[in-house]
Amino acid sequence: MQERKQGIVIVSNRLPVTLEVAESGALHARPSAGGLVSALQSLPKRDNAWIGWTGSSIEPSAEARAALGAASLSSGFRMCPVFLSKEEISKFYLGFANEIVWPLFHDLQSRCNFDPSYWRAYQEVNAGFATQVLKMANTGDLVWIHDYQLMLVATHLRNAGMRNRLAYFHHIPFPSPDIFEKLPWGKQLLQGLLHHEVIGFQTDRDLQNFLSCYRKLLRGEVTAKGRLVELRCGGLHSVASAFPIGIDADAFETVAGGGAAGKRLAEIRETLGDCALILGVDRLDYTKGIIERLRAFEIFLEQHPGSHRKVTLVQVIVPSRSDVPKYQELKGEVERLVASINGRFTDLGWTPVQFMYRGLPHAELLAYYRAADVALVTPLKDGMNLVAKEFCACQLDRKGVLVLSKFAGAAQQLKAGALLVNPNDWQSVADSIAQALAMDAREKERRMKVLQRSVHKNNVSQWLDHISATVEMYSRTRAPEPRGELAAAVGF
Ligand code: UDP
Ligand code: G6P
Repeated sequence: MQERKQGIVIVSNRLPVTLEVAESGALHARPSAGGLVSALQSLPKRDNAWIGWTGSSIEPSAEARAALGAASLSSGFRMCPVFLSKEEISKFYLGFANEIVWPLFHDLQSRCNFDPSYWRAYQEVNAGFATQVLKMANTGDLVWIHDYQLMLVATHLRNAGMRNRLAYFHHIPFPSPDIFEKLPWGKQLLQGLLHHEVIGFQTDRDLQNFLSCYRKLLRGEVTAKGRLVELRCGGLHSVASAFPIGIDADAFETVAGGGAAGKRLAEIRETLGDCALILGVDRLDYTKGIIERLRAFEIFLEQHPGSHRKVTLVQVIVPSRSDVPKYQELKGEVERLVASINGRFTDLGWTPVQFMYRGLPHAELLAYYRAADVALVTPLKDGMNLVAKEFCACQLDRKGVLVLSKFAGAAQQLKAGALLVNPNDWQSVADSIAQALAMDAREKERRMKVLQRSVHKNNVSQWLDHISATVEMYSRTRAPEPRGELAAAVGF
């Protein structure tokens, strides 16, 4: 596109805004949910474009483009929409991405539905995203592709002869070969990733799992170069590494200390009175361990009658993927369990679990982070989990404790200050809640300082700098390659 200078073209399944029809009947763009969008929104905006799906089945129209144009002006990114049909949404997004890759990569094979028509849709939609990239990217732009929904875009770009630098970041866990091999199309996905110069993962665990799959299925070469690993396979040459994603900790701290959050904080504190606040914040997703967390809280209430009326669990659940049957079932299950715990323990003027099924405005969310005495971040498995980092950045008074699943990617960086738990061990989570509530103020402050140092040091700009430096270094050392022939050599 002529108007943009050289920059980054971000490509992710979802745009940072979702198009929807307002009650008035007009189209409008509301903020999208999820960690990927939160993190990428903090990147520098100048000259950067963002290609992604509109998040709905609304068809292309002048009104849709105008709504996205307005969102581009306010966000600073130039948003380039991909419109998906109802069938594409059903088979590519809800189907392949969220009924196969998502559960499998979180080690939940029994939740997968390996419908072969989903695979065809995945290939076609990835080709559609590639077409949009070819239209948008200038020579010299870095094309930065994100996450498991788009593992084949680079294959289509290289086959079309694109020579731009391509990078990929995988936001979710990468499974071990035992699990990955269950996927009938795993080899094609691995080959797809090798078309990027740089392939990034959240943690060493994910990188090592990816390398084991690559060795086993593609039998390519691996050379360690410090924190990087060079891969050579079928004429393709890439570098892979772990680049744990961070947040804009300064911005979180500023908003948490600002007027809007302060006003909400005062209201929350007044409503809670002497009750300690235990906070859970998650998309409605079976990987987040919400059921297990509620079970643990129930055990805590059973075993600590002295805590009744003195502690409240506020669980924020952001609606997500509500057309996937497993997500609908989970909503019912959470509602039944909350009702059962409240039915057992509620007393006049005290409801032990308060459950909000909606996204909160940003300043309000940060007020809850600031007000919380304990954050329960207990996913069964998670690529990173930004909620854990955001909670730490917003703890201006340093009186809160982070209880964190050891299976969240964030545990690698936050283990020194958090209370680490196995979310499947409900009793140990209940014990950690008790430990957090009883912890002395000096110990809480000491731990929170450790956590805050980590989230400020490993922030989102440092993440971007590491990835950009790797792309720079690697593209300088890489010889130009005739991509069409290479693609043929590895069987595309
Ligand atoms: N979030 C939000 N509104 C809410 C609750 C959460 O925007 O009401 C954001 C939260 O700030 C975080 C993201 O949703 O940035 C969740 O990211 P995380 O990495 O924890 O999990 P994901 O949803 O990506 O699996
Ligand atoms: C996780 C994934 C993202 C995804 C987000 C929200 O963070 O890594 O790729 O965008 O969840 O899920 P959704 O399906 O609503 O985009």
